[in-house]
Order: sequence, then C-alpha cells, then structure tokens
Amino acid sequence: MAPVPEEHLPGSPGDAPEEGPGRYGEALFRPEHPQEGERIDHAALVYDPLTRARLRSLGVGPGWRCLDAGAGTGTVARWLADEAGAEEVVALDRDTGRLAPFAGPRLRVREADLTRLAAEPDLGTFDLVHARFVLMHLPGRRGILRLLAERLNPGGYLVLSDAADVPDPADPHSAYRRTLDAMWRTLSETIGTDVTAVRAHPHVLRAAGLEEVAAELVCPPLTPGGPLAAFWSETWERMRPDLLAGRLDAATLDEALAYLASPDLAELAPGMLTVWGRRPTPRQ
Ligand SMILES: C[S@@+](CC[C@H](N)C(=O)[O-])C[C@H]1O[C@@H](n2cnc3c(N)ncnc32)[C@H](O)[C@@H]1O
Repeated sequence: MAPVPEEHLPGSPGDAPEEGPGRYGEALFRPEHPQEGERIDHAALVYDPLTRARLRSLGVGPGWRCLDAGAGTGTVARWLADEAGAEEVVALDRDTGRLAPFAGPRLRVREADLTRLAAEPDLGTFDLVHARFVLMHLPGRRGILRLLAERLNPGGYLVLSDAADVPDPADPHSAYRRTLDAMWRTLSETIGTDVTAVRAHPHVLRAAGLEEVAAELVCPPLTPGGPLAAFWSETWERMRPDLLAGRLDAATLDEALAYLASPDLAELAPGMLTVWGRRPTPRQ
C-alpha cells in the first residue's frame, strides 16, 4: 500500500502552526528546578514498565544501536544499555545535566536540540529510535518525526509515546477535570504542547514510509499517594502561577490537589499513547 499523502492526513497539514510563545524547559519545566528530576521520575516509575514491555515485544536486545530522544533522567536509556543489552544507546536531550552521571562506553550522552536535528548529521543511524513525552511539546513535530524516521536502519523501529487524555464527557465541571483542562490549555498557550497530535502519528509514520505501523493507548491506575498522583500534583504545583493567570481559580486548584490525595479519588487518568512503525528492509 502506498503511504498516505501528507495533505490527506488528519489535523493541521505540515509542521505549522504548532509553536507557543515559549519553549519546554524555558517557559515551563526549567531543568534547574530542584524538583524537575523527581517530577520526571514519578512519571517514569509509572510508564517505564509499559515502555519496556513494548520495546521487548519489538525485539530490542543485544546488538541494537538505540537513540532515546529527549531522554530526561535516562531511565529508558539506562534500561536499554544495562538490562536489555543494547550495544550502544545514545541518550539525547537539550539539557543533559541529569544524564551526564550515567555516561559510559555503552551509554553515550548527547546534548542536542531536537528542533535542530538536521544540524546533527554525525548522529548516525539506529535500530531503535524512541521518544516519550517529548514530541507533544515541540514545534514542528511532524518534521522532527520524519527526521527521526530517517535515522532508522533498515528493519529498525521508531517508537513514539505521548500523553492522550480521555475525558468523561459527563463530567466537565469537577475540580479535577477543570484543572486538567486548564493545564492542557496552559501548556498549549505557553509552549505549544498538543496532546491531540499523537492521534495522527500512525498515519504520519505510514506517510514517512514506515511499515507494520500500530498503536496502543494505556491509562495506568491513578491512586491516592501513588506515583501518578505525585506526578500530577508536582506538575500542577509547578504550573500554579500559570494556571492561576486567568485560567483557573486557586480554590479549584487546591480542591483538585486534595482530591488527588483523597480516598475519594476515582478517575480514568490521562494515558500514554504509543505508536510504532518499522523501516522496510530492502527486498531481495
Ligand atoms: C517530559 S520529559 C520526558 C523525559 C523522558 N523521555 C521520559 O519519558 O521520562 C521531556 C524531556 O524532553 C527534553 N526536551 C524538551 N525539548 C527538547 C528539545 N527541543 N530537544 C531535546 N530535548 C528536549 C526535556 O529536556 C526533557 O528531558
């Protein structure tokens, strides 16, 4: 089957206009914040088992050369190098402060900006290119996705995960719902985050020439005191000034935060939508 032409894909065609006035790590989630590593790790605790299971099922293992793009604190990159037995893992991030301590012969740390990927020709090619909770925040994400697909060896996999919210249409007014909605709006207006873009990724991967494209959505349990509740609490506290700048009132935010810690908590949390595809091998 021929790849779907770009102009037939759902959503905004091409790579614009996806940019907010600021950028991830500048307008929000500055890397030097003392709790930023902990915030990322709360999410990693929840999502790493899902990511590992998916990567294992795609066959990742000894001999693979892997790129983790936007590697954060490096939990996936370290697992690839130390436990999955990948031959070499490149952990790339625009801020490598939390990755540097783990650098070694099999785990290369690379400081680079994914929005300037074309300026990194020596990065090489990979059997796995993985990016989790990164593309949703970046301007020009479709162009980046295509450049990432070009970095695949024949037979290699591109695996992309981003957040996907599944709100209950019957509950538009609870403090929890209004806080989540205000958060997505704030992220969109400040750094250009789009949590709907990931739904088009299967078509975009196919249009980029990848085969065996598939996707899955997993919503991990949200329990009071659990790591996912800790991640959202920390995220909302960090965003408090932006959330309260005309998008939400303090009483609603505080009620939502208290709900996250309460035994009344009963929600289908935002999930992780993972999309993957494989670069064709040349036909004999
Ligand atoms: C939400 S964290 C996700 C980290 C990791 N992938 C994970 O799932 O645990 C987003 C990461 O993307 C990185 N990032 C954001 N914009 C970037 C860019 N333009 N180029 C490279 N990395 C970027 C941030 O520094 C941060 O480490």
